[in-house]
Amino acid sequence: MNADTDTTRAIRQEAATGTIRMEVARYRPGQDAEPVTQSYEVPLISDWAVLDGLNYIKDQLDGSLSYRWSCRMGVCGSCGMTVNGEPRLTCGTFLTEYDRGPVRIEPLKGFPVIRDLVVDIDEFLAKLSSVRPWLVREGEEPPLTTEYAQTPEQLDAYKQYSMCINCLLCYSACPVYVLDPDFLGPAAIALAQRYNLDSRDMDDRFDVLNLDEAVWGCTFVGECTRVCPKHVDPAEAIQRYKLTAALRSVLPWSRR
Ligand code: SF4
Ligand code: FES
Repeated sequence: MNADTDTTRAIRQEAATGTIRMEVARYRPGQDAEPVTQSYEVPLISDWAVLDGLNYIKDQLDGSLSYRWSCRMGVCGSCGMTVNGEPRLTCGTFLTEYDRGPVRIEPLKGFPVIRDLVVDIDEFLAKLSSVRPWLVREGEEPPLTTEYAQTPEQLDAYKQYSMCINCLLCYSACPVYVLDPDFLGPAAIALAQRYNLDSRDMDDRFDVLNLDEAVWGCTFVGECTRVCPKHVDPAEAIQRYKLTAALRSVLPWSRR
């Protein structure tokens, strides 16, 4: 996918204040013995994000570079990578943050690499499905056609968690997940809470949340919340469900 036309790119390159070296991890599992780093000089332009730099490399220098992106505006969640050791959305991270360079781009830590900067997220998708991240209504068959009104307060109860874009930065930053890939993890738990706290939902996700590999595996390091670009606060979601689960042991009829 071309980021700019040749004309606009030429105009924008005139605005460059110099160049910055991008050191990019390259790896083809099954063909390469181990990842290697490849360096590219990229124009340093004040409003270029790291993703623009990768697009420049792909379009102008090396078409074989592989990475994911789509929206370029912090919405699709597909451009997460490790930038100078930190999990970041590359479309929301400006090259000028690193203008003394070099800037190092690696795949998100904690996930198997498919190629270069592209990681395999199948395990996460299975975990996400396991928490049933959709509205469940007892005694009603889809399609659901009834309108269920909510007050602003009822919306506020879960809205924060609904901002998750599945970018997986929180998993990459989480020391528990990096040591134990079976840990259900921050985003899946936050999204379970998104539905648990929705007044329209009637499910009970206790079976998937009240486990050592789920909320009880969290040691409350809080890195997930620190790196989350959408201010979801998954650490708070997890601690909050711990309280819910603990209350259920004394009040078994309480569900939320
Ligand atoms: S909780 Fe935040 S960091 Fe984690 S996947 Fe959702 S948006 Fe990304
Ligand atoms: S490209 Fe969509 S979030 Fe970055």
